[in-house]
Amino acid sequence: MDRKVDRRRFVAATAAAGVGLMMGAANPAAEKPALLGGKRAHSGGWPAWPEWRQPWEADVLKVLRSGVWCSAGGGGKVTEFEAAYAKLLGAKRCLATASGTTALITSLHVVGVDAGDEVICSPFTFNATYNAILNHKALPVFADTDPATLTIDPASIESRITDRTRAILPVHIYGMPCDMDAICAIAKKHDMAVVEDACQAWLAEYRGRKCGTLGDLGCFSFQNSKHLPAGEGGAVTGNSDPLLDRCHSFHNCGRATGTFRGRGSFTRGGNYRMQHFQAAMLLQQIDKLVQETEVRQANADYLMEQLRQIPGIAPARLPEHSRAVWHMFPLRYDAHQFHGLPREKFVHALAAEGIPCGGGYSEQYLDGMIDEAIQSRGYRRLWPAERLTAYRDSLRNLPGNRRVCATTVVLPQNLLLAERGSMDHIVDAIRKIQVHSEALASA
Ligand SMILES: Cc1ncc(COP(=O)(O)O)c(C=O)c1O
Repeated sequence: MDRKVDRRRFVAATAAAGVGLMMGAANPAAEKPALLGGKRAHSGGWPAWPEWRQPWEADVLKVLRSGVWCSAGGGGKVTEFEAAYAKLLGAKRCLATASGTTALITSLHVVGVDAGDEVICSPFTFNATYNAILNHKALPVFADTDPATLTIDPASIESRITDRTRAILPVHIYGMPCDMDAICAIAKKHDMAVVEDACQAWLAEYRGRKCGTLGDLGCFSFQNSKHLPAGEGGAVTGNSDPLLDRCHSFHNCGRATGTFRGRGSFTRGGNYRMQHFQAAMLLQQIDKLVQETEVRQANADYLMEQLRQIPGIAPARLPEHSRAVWHMFPLRYDAHQFHGLPREKFVHALAAEGIPCGGGYSEQYLDGMIDEAIQSRGYRRLWPAERLTAYRDSLRNLPGNRRVCATTVVLPQNLLLAERGSMDHIVDAIRKIQVHSEALASA
């Protein structure tokens, strides 16, 4: 007999028995899963996202009727938003941008990333992180992901440093702070810049300070799905006037800003500006962001506590003294504790219970975007062929990230805005799937 399978069966059966003892006669986990013809664990809806409120319209109309829609000249709603967002984060300065991607492109330029440079970044992220680096004709060099935290493993950074490495770009993915002390110490030792991709981390905290204020520059996104949404939009935050002046100039076609000035078209730049409509929308939602962040955090704390009791379900570990804001709520799923039920089937079964969920990020650096870049004329001019070959091979050597991509399950942020009873439905649904995982695996 296969002792491994035997043990798995034993663990799942024990878990099921535990559920039975804990929950007594009214045991939701004992019911049939929806996929096998049972009742859904959650039959109601979930809070809609994004949410627009009618009283917010007057300010947006004011912008419309003013005829001043462009922010190139400064002032107006964009400047007002920049001051409010900097204050919210405890940052000295904020620059509003057209998007999170353009915030990243601007920041990387300002910290000196140029064609032929290398930037060490998290692989477990939305592909905009990679694209911002590629936009500079620089190479995104992936450190590994720590499977316990789902963020960049600081221990894997130093071995990736070469004489071309210019910056580290950690990503506070799903609003979970990276271990910034360790990352900043490595950057300091090697005289490199740190640009935080905080595009999913509005109000997340690390050791009493907000994400986006911990490195040289921080970047945010206000795209439609985000906790502070305006359709599109972004921001760069930081505490250095010279760096923020340069960012302002670069995002505004190279116009002189603050102490960063010269004669005529003295510096390069692009048009990465936010519009006043976007800023008017964002200003209205700041209080809502603060209130909703607390609700998400309280529900996430509750879910973590409940889900930790289910064998095979591991919520992410956060660095000490940090607070996540949960753009997604991730779980590591161990199919062995579910009679081998593949993650895709688990996700399907959970969705059938009325719990929207997905599989998180894949190993997208193997999909083609990186190959297209490194096979281009520009990249082949900028790096020796041996370096590009070794780099391509290194993409297969990210064991932590590979595991995370294969085993993560994510719940979207709007679920965390529901009432506490709905959190219990999520837990009940997962317990139910575990109890019936053998039948679901063979269905
Ligand atoms: C981690 C991360 N980085 C960068 C971005 C890019 O932001 P945007 O879509 O506003 O350009 C996003 C947006 O989804 C993101 O989630």
